Amino acid sequence: MTYQSFDDAAQQGHHATRLADLRNRMRQEGLDAFIIPRADAHQGEYVAEADARLAWLTGFTGSAGFAIVTQRQAGVFIDGRYRVQVKDQVDLAHFTPVPWPETRPSHWLREALPAGGRIGFDPWLHSRKEIEAMDSGLEGSGLGLIATEENLVDAIWPDRPAPPVGRARAHDIELAGETSADKRARLAAELKRDGHAAAFLSLPDSISWLLNIRGSDLPKNPVVQGFAVLADDGHVTLFSDPAKFDDDLRRFLGNDVSILHPEGLTPALLDLPGPVRIDPATAPEAAFRLLEQASTHIAPAPDPAILPKSRKNSAELRGMREAHLADGVAMVRLLSWLDQQPAGSLTEIDVVRKLEAFRSEAGIYDISFDTICGAGPNGAIVHYRVTQATNRRIGDGEMLLIDSGGQYPNGTTDITRSLPMGAPPPEAVAPYTAVLRGMISLSRARFPVGVSGGHLDALARQYLWHHGQDYDHGTGHGVGAALCVHEGPIRISRTSDLPLQTGMILSNEPGYYREGSFGIRIENLVVVTEVEAEAGRRMLGFETLTLCPIDTRCVDLSAMARDEIDWLNGYHQRVREALTPHLDDSTCDWLDQATRPLGI
Ligand code: GLY
Ligand code: MN
Ligand code: MN
Repeated sequence: MTYQSFDDAAQQGHHATRLADLRNRMRQEGLDAFIIPRADAHQGEYVAEADARLAWLTGFTGSAGFAIVTQRQAGVFIDGRYRVQVKDQVDLAHFTPVPWPETRPSHWLREALPAGGRIGFDPWLHSRKEIEAMDSGLEGSGLGLIATEENLVDAIWPDRPAPPVGRARAHDIELAGETSADKRARLAAELKRDGHAAAFLSLPDSISWLLNIRGSDLPKNPVVQGFAVLADDGHVTLFSDPAKFDDDLRRFLGNDVSILHPEGLTPALLDLPGPVRIDPATAPEAAFRLLEQASTHIAPAPDPAILPKSRKNSAELRGMREAHLADGVAMVRLLSWLDQQPAGSLTEIDVVRKLEAFRSEAGIYDISFDTICGAGPNGAIVHYRVTQATNRRIGDGEMLLIDSGGQYPNGTTDITRSLPMGAPPPEAVAPYTAVLRGMISLSRARFPVGVSGGHLDALARQYLWHHGQDYDHGTGHGVGAALCVHEGPIRISRTSDLPLQTGMILSNEPGYYREGSFGIRIENLVVVTEVEAEAGRRMLGFETLTLCPIDTRCVDLSAMARDEIDWLNGYHQRVREALTPHLDDSTCDWLDQATRPLGI
């Protein structure tokens, strides 16, 4: 079983014709521009082939971005991660990469179109918040946003794949820890309290959590694609292809969950009694318009499942701990194997394949995202994904960064380790030590209730800052329990002001990237727990879930404080004790070496 493809995704040849077809269609519809987002109606990280409109039209396959097509221009808006990739993938004779968010789409449109210009968009593919932002950016320009009845790309896509009909399955109570009926009653009570008749849900992971189901519509994210309406009596109407649900699953869901084909969503929204709670940040503009068309009272508020889903209960935590034990075994087998390979004998793809094989034996049914395996300069590309074209032979004395994770039936993992192949490169030692100290500082943090990820972010960066260094990504993201590896709403980053609460699982992943040379990232998952405090106070801290040695060959012990070394030794002792019973003798020997106490 292989999970990751190493194809060079660029698909040449047809994009000029498709662009011409789209422009014809725009003329027929009286539109001067049309917006093609990467997102689908559920705003997730992965889209089904049927929703890969941006890639089909332009050739660009990144996980974020959008195109705006006019009769004369076709701008492909991409963020900093994709500046290089976009140039390799799109035909530059027809498409123009546009740096985003530096260039605002409304500004670009003002330059591109004459006053009175009509800008078409598919209201299912944009959140209300996004459309409001675009609208305010266009204020006073004389340009108008026009919601189209039909997606213009779909109209010119003759062999567009059908939407996915992946089999759905029950997520058993031993793993979920709370019945769907109890979750629905809990959320329905909140609706009643606020005087809302129903809530509209459009995030597949929220719906999958609420109904205790998992799906196979998308790679890497084990969600059931669909929309749902939760009524204030706890009844859920799920709009998802009924073919995904067999009789056993229907029995599991019970009479208080009705399954309707997605075609039933529009009439249902037109007929829904209000007030309806709906999330402007995530729900499609089209859903708002349907409710407005029916003069239904709208109550804008966050998706009611988002926060409860982020606080894992004891059964979910048990599953996550078990998944991390299995994942630790796979990782240690890989790291031990890596140490036995002659210098210069491996490529990045060899490592990804071997890791997949070990994880497969550990029980995954999918990887949780495409493995980032970057040697030398490739390690400095934060979102690097190896392809046949970029595959690098890992040279003696090069740093190797491996960021990967698995989807196990009981949990989701995400781990990064960075290590030298052969002798440690001297220039990596100081930054490696600074990254490790920041990662330890966050792992050991103690903080009062009310503190947010924004307050803690600097703990992980402080030693890099001291040396005039930093990293251009967040320190941590929420992680789902047997769900999406990137889960909202909680984060550890400067802009996150949501207080951390017990049971939340986050990544702790500081890094350092020297362009053209090497990259370092060390990532563990942690769970927020209550810790001891003096009477009258409540304090929180983190327990580390990830079980895998942290490479010590690039550590400068003289730069580390005694209590940091003690933390590392204590962590390694825990890893050794947990994994040893599950390893063969030679891997145990390797683990003993890798976790031997330092500085004593
Ligand atoms: N690159 C996936 C992650 O660590 O979040
Ligand atoms: Mn990761
Ligand atoms: Mn991560």
